[in-house]
Amino acid sequence: MNEEIEKQKNYAKKVKEIFHKEHKYFLYTFGCQMNENDSEKIAGMLLDMGYVKAENVGESDLIVFNTCCVREHAEDKVYGYLGALKQLHSEKPEMVIAVCGCMAQQKEVQDAIKKKYRHVDIVLGTHNLYKFPELLLDVLETRKNIIEVWESPGSVIEGIPIERESDLKAWVTIMYGCDNFCTYCIVPHVRGFERSRSPSDIIIEIEGLAAKGIKEINLLGQNVNSYKGEESGKVVLFPDLLKKINNIGGLERIRFMTSHPKDLSHDLITAMRDSEKVCKHLHLPVQSGSSRILEKMNRKYTKEYYLNLIEKIKSEIPDITLSTDIIVGFPGETEEDFEDTLDVIGKVRFDSAFTFLYSKRTGTPAASYENQITEKTAKERFNRLLELQTKIGREKNELMRGKHVKVLCEGKSKNNPDMLTGRTDGNKTVNFPGGSVLYGKMLMVEIVGVRTWSLEGKVILVLK
Ligand code: SAH
Ligand code: SF4
Ligand code: F3S
Repeated sequence: MNEEIEKQKNYAKKVKEIFHKEHKYFLYTFGCQMNENDSEKIAGMLLDMGYVKAENVGESDLIVFNTCCVREHAEDKVYGYLGALKQLHSEKPEMVIAVCGCMAQQKEVQDAIKKKYRHVDIVLGTHNLYKFPELLLDVLETRKNIIEVWESPGSVIEGIPIERESDLKAWVTIMYGCDNFCTYCIVPHVRGFERSRSPSDIIIEIEGLAAKGIKEINLLGQNVNSYKGEESGKVVLFPDLLKKINNIGGLERIRFMTSHPKDLSHDLITAMRDSEKVCKHLHLPVQSGSSRILEKMNRKYTKEYYLNLIEKIKSEIPDITLSTDIIVGFPGETEEDFEDTLDVIGKVRFDSAFTFLYSKRTGTPAASYENQITEKTAKERFNRLLELQTKIGREKNELMRGKHVKVLCEGKSKNNPDMLTGRTDGNKTVNFPGGSVLYGKMLMVEIVGVRTWSLEGKVILVLK
């Protein structure tokens, strides 16, 4: 085991010894799948320290915020919760409040916490998350407020304890950070430069998961296409990594995200096509359909390049399901630029799209660009975009009617506990009637109904 982790395990033991009764934590997670995966690590470390999950904030001894700062809205939510906790903390001074994740990396946030949210006990950055036990012990012993944030990352730390949310599906982060510096985006500033995990560490982790019965893994990175691992002095790129993972016994499905269009190679397309466990779904953020805006965003591709790439993918993998991310209202976006975005949506016909209003992020180049778009114009465009995408998404779903598709049953549907839910290979949600014996099973399901955001099915066969 890593020496650093060994040390943290000792700190964790000491935290456990401090308490004489059960101690509880409440963990809020904001942001992307990487943060979800980090939260599983926080939960793993907390478990080692003897904490158990609380039912609610009121009964917690420790409240952890794993934060996101990709858009202003995400930050505002955290500030809202922190403000609301002031009273509780003063009534229960032994309680500890910790803020970690991407927000914590920002100087302005650290200053705001020092000034306005002095009841926050620990601020911990993204690069030193593994030091949580050490910092928590320090706070419990001294009751001093601690801010420990590293400006840049150290080497990749393996072996952090982990408590996973699901026993069916697992996130596996394969690389950290991002080198792309899209001009609107804060992620490279808070997550640091790209670092890839070694292929053998990744394979060992996934073999362990498969042995425990995990059926589906989702490989994570801000841009998995630029994964660059090393094995016996040789470079291993993402398509090779996928092929290696495809050979792991017991796994049923492999997903990955996110792909940057500029780095999506022909080798990756063929590796996807030829690896039977790799789901035929691609999340390929376009961000804008206008070449002019794409250049200002520093995306390093044009509208034509993107459309061409989609054609190549569709010709190699005809049944591919496609999803994307789009930003509306980037500084300087004209009506004509926006129509280019609508044009791309109409031509590609994405199955789904995550659409975002541009949010100004301090420290990014786009924040100081001229011609910031008014909220009214941005919202009006956003609604037009949503209307078109909703119509296309529904039409794409309609094509599924009557088809027999493989669905991995994930359990009860959130919206209707009388129904089960699962996903198709193409990542579409299917709800269907059935009993708990079907949990975790791969099923053949007939699509009998179509909704805008989901499908309705009938189980035909239990496959395994
Ligand atoms: N690395 C991934 C995801 C990054 S964050 C990628 O490159 O696709 C997820 C999405 O948030 C981005 O794809 C982008 O569409 C959106 N996003 C990032 N910064 C934003 C900002 N300042 N305003 C609005 N949306 C933003
Ligand atoms: Fe942000 Fe661009 Fe990196 Fe994605 S690729 S995380 S959008 S800088
Ligand atoms: Fe948000 Fe950080 Fe992810 S800013 S989107 S949680 S990498």
